[in-house]
Amino acid sequence: MVHFLIQHEDDVAAGNGWLSPRERETLKRFRVPKRLSDWRRGRWTVKQALRAFFGLEYPAERFEILPNSEGAPEPYIDGHRLPMGLSLAHSGNRALCALTGSDMPIGCDLERIKPRIPEFIEDYFTDAELSHVRGLPPERRDEAVTLIWSAKESILKLFQVGLRADTRTVGVILPPDGCFSDWRDIGIATSLAPDPVTVWKRIDRGMVLTVAVPGVPGVKPTALQLETP
Ligand SMILES: CC(C)(COP(=O)(O)OP(=O)(O)OC[C@H]1O[C@@H](n2cnc3c(N)ncnc32)[C@H](O)[C@@H]1OP(=O)(O)O)[C@@H](O)C(=O)NCCC(=O)NCCS
Repeated sequence: MVHFLIQHEDDVAAGNGWLSPRERETLKRFRVPKRLSDWRRGRWTVKQALRAFFGLEYPAERFEILPNSEGAPEPYIDGHRLPMGLSLAHSGNRALCALTGSDMPIGCDLERIKPRIPEFIEDYFTDAELSHVRGLPPERRDEAVTLIWSAKESILKLFQVGLRADTRTVGVILPPDGCFSDWRDIGIATSLAPDPVTVWKRIDRGMVLTVAVPGVPGVKPTALQLETP
């Protein structure tokens, strides 16, 4: 089962008491304000997602999000590694966390829909993706390019290779009918793994959300709730 949560910069609590002592040390090392606020909002979003998943009675500071040797985030509680898949992304003033209730790995990405220069798709897209995008009416291109890019990032995070890998090792096959506000799975062909992978996609307030998981499409991602109904 895949769960997700989006948080805005305005949701992030003032002060840093909700970070662990080790995380507060990491925070001190950031020199670029944008990187600092992205990192802080990302940690906040993951911790809120973990609280929504395990129980809102857990205080955020008991959770710790530490990068593994590849830079991928891993969740801990009271210093013990939680056996669950976790991924995070930030874009604009928002952050997205996606997690699995088991040790199944996961990758997610969040991108604002915006125009990109032709060289971007020429450098990073496969020939099939290029012809798909060029065949679209101009008003649908920005959304399709953002979606293809985001799906690639999610897959590269799923395999924890990030942009060290060639983005053309992931081929994205978009449905012909455009994007929807609810989750839909899209076709992926990748040489990074012999087995099938699924990417879920969704458009929300001008942003593309994608979540990549191993295997064939199962139940679509569900939103974590921070308030009891
Ligand atoms: C992973 C990567 C694709 C993220 O892309 P991005 O558009 O910059 O940022 P996003 O907001 O989508 O995602 C950032 C999050 O991805 C996660 N991440 C970083 N490396 C990861 C990896 N190898 N696998 C999975 N997730 C990773 C981190 O949690 C990061 O957030 P944090 O630094 O606040 O913890 C990119 O950072 C990358 O390729 N990194 C590996 C290569 C590298 O280290 N390059 C040096 C950059 S200076």
